[in-house]
Amino acid sequence: MNRVLAQRHDRSLLDDRKGYRKIELNYRKNKEQDNTAMMDRLAAEFRYDDCRDRYWNPEMFSLLYGTPLWEQADSGQRVKLNQLYWAAYYSQIISAEIATIFFNQTSAAGLYTIEDFRIVCDTLDLESAQERAHINVFKKISEDFEEAVFGERIFTYPMRGPYTETMIYAKTNMAKSLWRKLQLNAYTLLSSNSAFIGCQYFAVRGVRTLNGKLIQHQLSQFYFKDPDQEHAPIPLKVSYYHFRDESFHFNSSTVISHEVLNSLKEPTPFEKWVANQGLRGSQSDHYHFSTAINGLFWYDPALYPKIYKILRSPVFGMSDNEARLMMVACFAEESEGMHASAKSRQIAIDSYREYLAGLKYVDQTNKEMAIMRRNSVAQHLTTNRHELRRFFRRIEIA
Ligand SMILES: [Fe+2]
Ligand SMILES: [Fe+2]
Repeated sequence: MNRVLAQRHDRSLLDDRKGYRKIELNYRKNKEQDNTAMMDRLAAEFRYDDCRDRYWNPEMFSLLYGTPLWEQADSGQRVKLNQLYWAAYYSQIISAEIATIFFNQTSAAGLYTIEDFRIVCDTLDLESAQERAHINVFKKISEDFEEAVFGERIFTYPMRGPYTETMIYAKTNMAKSLWRKLQLNAYTLLSSNSAFIGCQYFAVRGVRTLNGKLIQHQLSQFYFKDPDQEHAPIPLKVSYYHFRDESFHFNSSTVISHEVLNSLKEPTPFEKWVANQGLRGSQSDHYHFSTAINGLFWYDPALYPKIYKILRSPVFGMSDNEARLMMVACFAEESEGMHASAKSRQIAIDSYREYLAGLKYVDQTNKEMAIMRRNSVAQHLTTNRHELRRFFRRIEIA
């Protein structure tokens, strides 16, 4: 910006040269490495038959891994549990990325009101276009897989909008969903109207993707370490190239929420309050951990109908009674899998705390992750046992 004119403006992104350079470098590198065309090619080339008998993730990233179901499953069933994890995991990522595309846009609208923020907005445009390619390939593979194996949807869903619950298996009800919708509407207006809220959204995005980064790094390594990468199943390649795009996204979240934020005026008390509400929402969304799927904060009881359906499907061929007994063994008793999921969540809590530690406007409840820390394995078991009884009563009536 022209120096004379500069006096007429409050702030500019160029006030923080270091932050600007970081954003610029991240944008340039992401553009150079952009995997969008590759993702589209992988989606077009995917044929379930080519990789129907292969693992798509490291073994520990299988549905209900480390539970009695996994222990007694034969090798063919284990392959399906492994592929189900892929479809479930990326179905959640699709939902998160639909929300990301939307809030990238509303936040960019807020940030574009400040001098020299074009580079940040261009970064967000590139990321949104990449997310669309990610969603497309996740959807194609997961839907083809479910159609071929189950003949119906299990974890996938038709295209949805950004105002629905981001966690697809959350503890919710009609009133809560409506409240969430109202909150999202309000946040949309606020983020497009306040540069601070727009910028702070990236602290929320950073926290929300931090856990994804921890898990997706492990998923990507399955391809990276494959001695025969050329013939590796397409879902492995997707995990790998997705992680490479996401590393840039995570980086931009961090720079925008930690450094670019310093180029802005001090937030008002109201802006601080809104910012902390956003982080509290993330804590609530990440309150539960799932025995069925390590690394996603799904609410197990919301998954019971799906698990029951899988157990009754030809893949496992269980009777009603066998399926119930198996669900009790998996969800109402401690297992290696349950503890592994609890441990992943603990790692997430520790990394969130570290991520937010240096941000001045963040209050103690968020800095300490106090809401998330209230849950425990004992609490998880009590809820699962209680809700499992209710679920069994419901299917009896139905
Ligand atoms: Fe993505
Ligand atoms: Fe992303």
